Amino acid sequence: MVSSGKESRIYWGKSFNNENLAVKIYLTTSSEFRKGMIKYLAGDPRFKEIPKSTRKLISMWARKEFKNLKLMYNVGVKVPKPISQHENVLIMEFIGDDGMRAPLLKEVELGLNEYEDIFYKVINDVRKIYKYAGLVHGDLSEYNIMVFKGSPYIIDVSQSVKVAHPNSYDLLLRDISNIVNFFRGLGLKTLDIHEVVEYVINGEYEDVGEF
Ligand SMILES: Nc1ncnc2c1ncn2[C@@H]1O[C@H](COP(=O)(O)OP(=O)(O)OP(=O)(O)O)[C@@H](O)[C@H]1O
Ligand SMILES: [Mg+2]
Repeated sequence: MVSSGKESRIYWGKSFNNENLAVKIYLTTSSEFRKGMIKYLAGDPRFKEIPKSTRKLISMWARKEFKNLKLMYNVGVKVPKPISQHENVLIMEFIGDDGMRAPLLKEVELGLNEYEDIFYKVINDVRKIYKYAGLVHGDLSEYNIMVFKGSPYIIDVSQSVKVAHPNSYDLLLRDISNIVNFFRGLGLKTLDIHEVVEYVINGEYEDVGEF
C-alpha cells in the first residue's frame, strides 16, 4: 500500500504492459465527509442528482475525480494519466518508480532555483486548469503536488469544481494563497497572490518565461 488516508487507500499495481499503476480505492465515509462531498457536488451541473445511498455517492465521487483528471490531462496539465474507473475504484498512472511513490512537494528538499521553476510550472498548470479545463482544483497545496523527474504533478482532484460553481473564485483564491505562501515560506520572492490570480484568470502569455 502506498498511502492510507481516512477516505481512501492508494495501492501500487502493474498493467498487462508492465506499466506502473496507482489504484485509488474510496472507502465508505463518515457523515462529516458526506456533508463535505455534497458541498462540492452541489452547483456542479455534471452531478445534478445526489444519490441517497452512500455507496452510490462514493461511486459518483470516484467518477468525478476520474472526469476531472481527464479534463486536466487532455489540456496538457501534469496529472497522473487517468486509466479507468469502476464504482469506488480509480486507476491512474503511478507517479514514481516501481512501487516507490515520488515525494510530495512538502517532502522534497531542493535549491531555490528548482523551487522557482516548480512554482512557475504549478502556476501555469493552475492557469491551464482554469482556462482550458474550466476547473478549479479546490484543495491545492504542497500536500497535493508530487515532484517527479523535476516536474510537479497535481493530484487529488476529486473535489475540483467547474469555474461556474458558486464557490469557484473563493476556492481559486485559497488554492493560489496556499501555493504562494508555501513558496514564500521557503524564501522565494514570488508575485503577489492577486497578481497570480489575475494571471490565471486573464493571462495572455503561454510561457512561464514571458510572465
Ligand atoms: N498517481 C499516484 N501515484 C503515486 N502515488 C500517489 C498517486 N496518487 C496519490 N498518491 C499518493 O497517495 C497519497 C494520497 O492520495 P490522494 O491525495 O489522492 O488521496 P486522499 O484521499 O486525499 O488522501 P489524503 O487524505 O492522504 O490526502 C498522496 O499523498 C500520494 O502520496
Ligand atoms: Mg490528498
